[in-house]
Amino acid sequence: MNITAISTQDLAKKKAGYKAAEYIKDGMTIGLGTGSTVAYMMTRLKERITDEGLSVFGVTTSIQTTMRAVNLGIPLIGLEQVEKIDLTVDGADQIDPELRLIKGRGAAHVRERIIADASARLIIVADPSKICPHLTGPIPIEIIPFSLSHVICRLMELDGTVTVREGVKKDGPVISDNGNIVLDFFPDDIPDPSGMETTINMIPGVVSCGIFTEFTDKTTVIIGEQDGPRIIGS
Ligand code: A5P
Repeated sequence: MNITAISTQDLAKKKAGYKAAEYIKDGMTIGLGTGSTVAYMMTRLKERITDEGLSVFGVTTSIQTTMRAVNLGIPLIGLEQVEKIDLTVDGADQIDPELRLIKGRGAAHVRERIIADASARLIIVADPSKICPHLTGPIPIEIIPFSLSHVICRLMELDGTVTVREGVKKDGPVISDNGNIVLDFFPDDIPDPSGMETTINMIPGVVSCGIFTEFTDKTTVIIGEQDGPRIIGS
């Protein structure tokens, strides 16, 4: 017998991920986000492909998600080979009441933003710890390596502190899937998330920060609660 313990938080992620897999219809092109909650959706999607003969293609947002999809046997397609993405399922690190997000804990937010922008609909899956009254950060920021000192100087002009994200089992900075460095900016406050997003993204050298405010109109959030998934948004 295989008895696997699953924490309350993981159970919540599983409920959210499994619920999101119900939104996928035959023939869809699906954006596959990054993180542990999306992983549950992918597991359930694979079951539906096998059990129901669902025919779908996934467009991935990270090397981690590509590896997971390949291991599961979910068919993949390149962004350059699709006209549109019907639906993307992704995770988030913070979600405010207006469905604005902070993403990038896993340093995948640059590709996640591209895939979200290319998608007709965005479903965010999360456990209840991700819901917050207002976004506080830290804000992940992917930058090209040449710009490191300049971007740090510009961020220091805003109120807060900044760190270079360090690797695990690798000395020195994290190198993203795109070959870039990732900063974590700890602002004193984020009174205007959209303004902060624009200000950071305008700094020369910044590829993208992890504040996502522009997708709220097409976003549905699924929170895995103890007594079932809670749907926020349309
Ligand atoms: C990846 O960089 C992030 O944007 C993830 O989508 C986010 O960290 C969600 O991960 P979990 O589902 O593991 O919390």
